[in-house]
Amino acid sequence: MEAGAGGRRLVCVTGGSGFIGSWLVRLLLDRGYTVHATVKNLQDEGETKHLQALDGAATRLRLFQMDLLDAASSMRPAIEGAQGVVHLASPLTLQTRDPEKELLEPAMKGTLSVLRAAKDCGVERVVLMSSKSAMVPNPSRPADKAIAEDDCWADVELLKKRQIWYNVSKTLAEKAAWEFAKNEGLQLVVLNPGTTLGPFFTPSVNTSLNILLQLLRGQELELDAVYTGLVDVRDVAQSAIVLYENPSAQGRHLCLASMERFVDFTEKLTDMYPEFPVHRIKEDKQGWLMRAKDPSKKLMDLGVRFIPFDQTVRETVDCFRNKGLI
Ligand SMILES: NC(=O)c1ccc[n+]([C@@H]2O[C@H](COP(=O)([O-])OP(=O)(O)OC[C@H]3O[C@@H](n4cnc5c(N)ncnc54)[C@H](OP(=O)(O)O)[C@@H]3O)[C@@H](O)[C@H]2O)c1
Repeated sequence: MEAGAGGRRLVCVTGGSGFIGSWLVRLLLDRGYTVHATVKNLQDEGETKHLQALDGAATRLRLFQMDLLDAASSMRPAIEGAQGVVHLASPLTLQTRDPEKELLEPAMKGTLSVLRAAKDCGVERVVLMSSKSAMVPNPSRPADKAIAEDDCWADVELLKKRQIWYNVSKTLAEKAAWEFAKNEGLQLVVLNPGTTLGPFFTPSVNTSLNILLQLLRGQELELDAVYTGLVDVRDVAQSAIVLYENPSAQGRHLCLASMERFVDFTEKLTDMYPEFPVHRIKEDKQGWLMRAKDPSKKLMDLGVRFIPFDQTVRETVDCFRNKGLI
């Protein structure tokens, strides 16, 4: 099969073992690309086996070990020869004892090292997997302009005060990436997905999938500062490819099927799954968030169409059931 983007056939995916990374590797292989995917530990079958089992992996997938705290020079083997890099590797956790060490340092230092290696290796285009967490919350913006993509940044001081460290890590890493790209003349484009769900073939359940799992198990979650809606993992992976293959795509790209509040999410879940003890939210604390049906206009203009909420949730829940998790 012919790869897209006029022959830019080798792409490096950092964090290829993860929930989104594994789907991206799969879609790139399906499109005919050769892929260099990085994993944190090559000796851990939990990070490698699901990738090696993909169609095309035997001949067009090579795995490399890479830690985000490694020096840029050690990242070169995975990046050398690639025309594109999609940088996903970043710690994704909502609980941390040492935010500096566990989140901020790997996110920021790792991003800059990957970009440095990309620049040194002559990579043509880098797609950075940021997050809508780098865009909101920012109470100083009017609600109807809360997310307007390029100029919309989360309020880092507020996030620090509320100790929402994952969001701090994504905001600072994305800002550092833009600064690097500007200073070094690197072609960078950014994807900012919301809470990502959907079918998974990783052996473990990542943090965003775990949100749904916990809700179905009746746990009470406080996500009013961070939740803005869902997006299907297949749409996130597809959007990253669209951004890579379209040099006209510039800046930041919100990636969400619809913008909605956490209360909407739990209400819909209760309706869809009355057999599960989903905790109903009593007080909606998300007045700052305007609901919107098709918020990801820039991606839609590039041809991305989003899988509807119900399908994403249903297929995720089916996966949980098939794996005996609920
Ligand atoms: N899931 C969401 O809701 C969501 C939404 C918006 C943005 N994102 C972003 O999307 C990216 C992928 O997230 P995901 O949902 O696929 O999460 P995930 O399943 O937890 O994957 C995270 C990936 O990062 C790698 N990683 C973490 N720390 C590392 C380190 N110190 N050195 C090297 N690799 C490291 C992991 O490698 P190992 O598996 O080998 O440890 C894994 O491949 C992240 O940048 C995340 O911030 C996710």
